[in-house]
This record gives sequence, structure tokens and C-alpha cells, in this order.
Amino acid sequence: MKAIHPLPDLLINQIAAGEVVERPAAALKELLENSLDAGATQIDVDLVGGGIKRLRVADDGAGIEREDLALAVARHATSKIALVTDLEAIATLGFRGEALASIAAVSRLSLASRATGKPHAWRIEVEGGTVAPVTPAALAAGTTITVQELYFNTPARRKFLRAEATEWAHCDEAFRRIALSHPEAGMTLQHNGRAVQRLAAGGRRARIEALLGDAFVLHAALVDEEAAGVRLTGFAVRPAFAAQGPTAQYVFVNGRFVRDRVLSHALREAYRDVLHHDRQPAYALWLTLDPRRVDVNVHPQKTEVRFRDSGAIHQFVRHAVERALATTAAEQPAVSAAERLGVAAARLPPHGGPHGERHGDGAAPAAFAATFPVWTPPGQRGLDLATAEPANFYARLFGPRDPAAAPALPNDDAHPLGFALAQLHGIYILAQNREGLVLVDMHAAHERIVYEKLKASHERVPVQPLLVPATFVAEAIELATVEEHAATLDALGFALAPIGPATLAVRGMPAPLSDADPATLARAVLHDIREFGGSQAFAVRRDELLSSMACHGSVRANRSLAVPEMNALLRQMEATERAGQCNHGRPTWYQLTLSDLDRLFMRGR
Ligand SMILES: Nc1ncnc2c1ncn2[C@@H]1O[C@H](COP(=O)(O)OP(=O)(O)OP(=O)(O)O)[C@@H](O)[C@H]1O
Ligand SMILES: [Mg+2]
Repeated sequence: MKAIHPLPDLLINQIAAGEVVERPAAALKELLENSLDAGATQIDVDLVGGGIKRLRVADDGAGIEREDLALAVARHATSKIALVTDLEAIATLGFRGEALASIAAVSRLSLASRATGKPHAWRIEVEGGTVAPVTPAALAAGTTITVQELYFNTPARRKFLRAEATEWAHCDEAFRRIALSHPEAGMTLQHNGRAVQRLAAGGRRARIEALLGDAFVLHAALVDEEAAGVRLTGFAVRPAFAAQGPTAQYVFVNGRFVRDRVLSHALREAYRDVLHHDRQPAYALWLTLDPRRVDVNVHPQKTEVRFRDSGAIHQFVRHAVERALATTAAEQPAVSAAERLGVAAARLPPHGGPHGERHGDGAAPAAFAATFPVWTPPGQRGLDLATAEPANFYARLFGPRDPAAAPALPNDDAHPLGFALAQLHGIYILAQNREGLVLVDMHAAHERIVYEKLKASHERVPVQPLLVPATFVAEAIELATVEEHAATLDALGFALAPIGPATLAVRGMPAPLSDADPATLARAVLHDIREFGGSQAFAVRRDELLSSMACHGSVRANRSLAVPEMNALLRQMEATERAGQCNHGRPTWYQLTLSDLDRLFMRGR
């Protein structure tokens, strides 16, 4: 074995760069965060060649003193924290003093800055970690950092960079996240000499309109709730609109874009019963809380957080969004809401009865009486969802309908969950077994069945080829995800390929989910892969990906099921391991025995 020796600084920084700035978009994010930390009110971004060739960020922030320039590009040098206790309440976006050193180790970096109140600007240049002396520069105010030829001196890393278009798509998304989170700063973005964004400083609404489209705000419910020092504000797109827009899901915690499982799960739950199964939620939400209650020092790119009381945060976020969505649905004229929602509207109370009684909020079930869902024969729907929701969906899912199979004897030992009697509010199945009444949460049960099927396919989820590929208009970031995560998609049972500069074709679907809407499921899964991130997505996050996919592809509330279809679901539950709980740990069914019922009615037996 070779002798142990300390690594040279440059190499240490290059290794760190692999984690901190794995691609141009990550470098861009770090530079933008530095500008915001410096209190910039205007930030201009100029990219060339997807950010690989050149990445320049100019701000009008506080600037850096001449004598601090060398420290700014040195590792472990920061102006933002000083004590270990500061780590417990980080109020700035940066705190490690690592970003600039990492970027400078793998690029040609030039940093020019004029500190507030100083007559001159100064420049420092670093080439592959070698720092040149400070020289005078011309700059009206603030800081301008230019990063050229990213990874020019680390060919192994450079090889991992994708085509210019892909890196550009990632930069565009990084810019969008920062721009959304900080509308108080004016921002511009230019790529290869073409102006892409010009955003005036202003409020959140205007920023969202500029970046996500007017329709996003128009169709969104306003969220604004506060409890125990935690505040959630922003916009949650109403279910009726959800699928029409791209999957825009942004959550900011104390001004920082994060991917957090607790939050995304809470949001999925909030939408669960009001969203048609082939639609995706869309939202832009800001969560603010005392920085002591959230740890941001858990991920090299600072995109993950850990809440001290994650259970409480989950509840708070879910209820806040649920309430917001309920209010907005009530404000809509009943007819147009019903038309837009199609079948899903059946569950939305026309006069504002919150759908909260499931969650113990004590609402009036009377509001639902008029909207009890009825089975509509195939071909009679006539609403805009007709194509998205094939009427024989359930026939294929649970086998053909057989009226003779309907009411059967409840005391059958082979069928512990009994036999279906009816469906309640499009959410529950009521079944009768020997002990009494069984209540089944349709979505939760189906989700569990699909998840177990998916998990049972070891290396790779089997593909069900589609006779006619489903195509959809894709965003650049979606095309980039397909290119980068081909292996993961393959393992998940997807056959996806670009068939044009902005079009993706789904040629095959994961067999256990082959009845879900191909484009919607594909988009949801692409989104998940991106969220979970990294080239190791499938290996490391397999169960999470499968679980989320099962949730996306499973039957939502508001689907009318015929009795044989309900029975088929009960039979599948009996045959499925752990069918008693959904993937999120909620029960999927509940038994009310005859003696429970007798007690309820004080009926002595
Ligand atoms: N645009 C800027 N305007 C003013 N000061 C800046 C700017 N960019 C960097 N600095 C200064 O350089 C220091 C180092 O920046 P760097 O991004 O490397 O570390 P950091 O932001 O402190 O922490 P992190 O590594 O978490 O980003 C900062 O602490 C800040 O003082
Ligand atoms: Mg920084």
C-alpha cells in the first residue's frame, strides 16, 4: 500500500467542486445566492454555451473589500457565519464559504467588485485554483463574477457534462427557482446573446405570472396561513387547471428552493381527493419559520432540509393547502367547475361545504348529498375528460364486469374482506363480511396493490408496450431528464424517447400501471426523477420512486366503481402483502363489527 499523505488544496477543492458544482446550473445557483446574500436589487445573468463556456453574474449588492477578495475565493472563508451556534439558525443562503473556492478550482474565474462607498473596483483572477494578484477594475457598483470553461482542468468531470442544450435547460430552471423565490430583486437572463428573461423587481404574483404564466395565478387558490410561528403563503393551482399547465411545483423554505419529502408528501395529500388521477398538482409556496426550526446544513447543494418537528409541519402544510383548495372550489360557479372537472366535480361541494369531514374537521356531510357520484355508461360522458378517462379503465384494471359475480355470501372464509355493497362519496367502498361492515379507502388500497406489484419486479419493472405511442409536448428540462436518466426510466418500465425538439413519445408503460394516462404518468415520473436527482436515482431511491409512481398511477377518489370492480379490488387486497396500509402508512381499510354497530345503536344482543 502507498503511504498516506495530505492532499494538495487544489485537489481538495476540485473534489469538493464535484459535489457543490456538479454542473453549470449548480454554479449559477451559487453565484445567484451570493448576489442575493449581498442584498442585490438587480442581478444580470449572461450565459454562453449552456453555461459551460461562460457564466457571468453581475449584481449591485454590497460588494467585497479589496483586502477580502483573496479570501472570497479561498476555501472555508465566509462573511456569513462565525460560530458553531450560527449553524443552528442560518439566515443567509450561503454559509460554508465553499462555493467560490470550488468553482474557482475547476474554471477560469474573474471576480470584480466595488464595495459600497469605495471609489474604485478591484479584480481578482483565478485560473484552475491559481490566484493572480489584485488589479484595479472598472465597475459602477456591486460584484461581477465571470466563470469560463467550467471543468477545463478536470476532463473526467467535463465528460459528464451533457449537450449544451441540456445544460442550458438546467441553468434556465436554476434561474427560475431563484427568480421565483426572490421577486424583490430585478433579474435578467441572457443565453448566447439572446435575452430570455427580463424580470422587474416586484411582488410574488407578478413574478409567478412572468415565469409560470398568467394562467397559473388565474387558476390558483391563494394560500395564506399562519400558526405557531410558521407561515405558508403562495399559490396552489386549482385541481381543474392542474393538468393543463406544466408540472410547476415550487416550494421555498425561508427563501430557499428545496426538495423535501415531508413537504411534497403533504402537498400530494392535500390534492389527493380533489385531483383527477391523471392530473398533476402545481404550486408555488413559501414556507417561513424560525431558522432554528429547520436544518439546512444537510446536503452539498443545500437543496434538502430537515425540519425539527416534521410531523407538525406536514400537518400544517397539508391542511393549509386543503383549506385553500376547498375555498376556491366553492367560489367557482358550480356549472363551469363541474364542466371543467368532469367526474371529479362530483365530489366538490357546490356551496362550499369543505371536504374536511374525512379529516375530522367536522364539516357538514349534507353538502355532498346532491353530488353523489353515479356511474356514467361508456360514451355518455361528453365532457372534456372523455378521452383522458377511458370508460373501460376499470374493466381492464380489474377484469371484465360480471353482474352475476356481484352479491355473494358474506361468510366466506376465503374472502375475509367480504363483498362490496356500495361506494360512498367516491372515496370509500362499503363491504359486508362475516364480522360486519368493512370500509375501504379506494385510493389507498389500490396504491398499495400497485406498489407491491411494482416492488415485486426485482431488477426492472416489466414494460407494457403501447400499440400507439402517446406523445406530448415536453419542456426542455423533461427532454434533458429523459436523456440523462435513460437507465432509471428503463428500470421503472418506461420506454420514452424524444421524437422532436419539444416532443416526447411514450412507447411503453410500466406493466402494473399500463392503464394510467401515459403522458401524465410519464411527466410525473420525470418530475420525481429530477427531484430525487443524481445519476444513482434508481439504485438509491428505488422504493421511493416506485411508491410515488404507484401513488400517481392509482385510482383517485371520485371514480365510480361497479360492484364487481369493487369486489375485484377487495380480492386483490386479500392477495397483496401489507395491503392493510397504504404506502404512506395510513390504513387502507377498517372493520366495524356488528357488535360495534350494536353498541352504537344501544342494541342489546
Ligand atoms: N456577489 C457577491 N457580493 C458580495 N460578496 C460576495 C459575493 N459573492 C461572494 N461574496 C463573498 O465571498 C464569500 C465567499 O463566497 P462563497 O459563495 O464561496 O461562500 P458563502 O456564500 O459564504 O458560503 P457557501 O459556500 O455556502 O455559498 C461570501 O461569504 C461573501 O462574503
Ligand atoms: Mg455562497
